[in-house]
Amino acid sequence: MEIIRNGADLSAYLRNINDIYESNGWGRGYSDEKIRKMFSASIYRLAVADGAAVGLLRAYGDNVVETHVTELAVHKNHQGKGYGSLLMKDLLDAFSHTAVYVMAFSENRGFFERFNLKDRSSKFTVYAVAARQ
Ligand SMILES: CC(C)(COP(=O)(O)OP(=O)(O)OC[C@H]1O[C@@H](n2cnc3c(N)ncnc32)[C@H](O)[C@@H]1OP(=O)(O)O)[C@@H](O)C(=O)NCCC(=O)NCCS
Repeated sequence: MEIIRNGADLSAYLRNINDIYESNGWGRGYSDEKIRKMFSASIYRLAVADGAAVGLLRAYGDNVVETHVTELAVHKNHQGKGYGSLLMKDLLDAFSHTAVYVMAFSENRGFFERFNLKDRSSKFTVYAVAARQ
């Protein structure tokens, strides 16, 4: 297993990334170009096993004050093998000098609490508007 970070050539993993999203029901048919744009604008990590990306993490931040994790997903067929934990740990190791926020489905609370993140939903609310079509 290896972790791929910003600056790596994503070419070999673009279809894997689409498969990770699709296997979790997070959209369909992401083009290579769209994935490249999404990742080039993000802090990212990929978990690669046997030459294929099986998990991804994306975040945004200023590298000074705060880092916001917006996506953490492991391919449905590879969940429960430790990849999600490795991705989260790698991100936390790199950005522990900033506050780290995670926007995640509440069913995952137990997973994030393993990393000493606290549920702050009583303090923060998420406001959102969908992308204009
Ligand atoms: C949540 C997710 C990223 C976890 O990644 P993973 O690789 O499957 O998790 P790991 O194998 O690293 O799990 C480590 C431990 O956390 C536990 N765990 C995993 N998912 C959990 C959850 N949702 N709630 C509580 N505990 C969880 C595992 O049981 C495991 O425990 P163990 O060490 O005692 O066996 C993955 O299941 C996933 O992609 N889910 C769908 C997308 C999603 O909801 N992402 C969350 C951010 S929006």
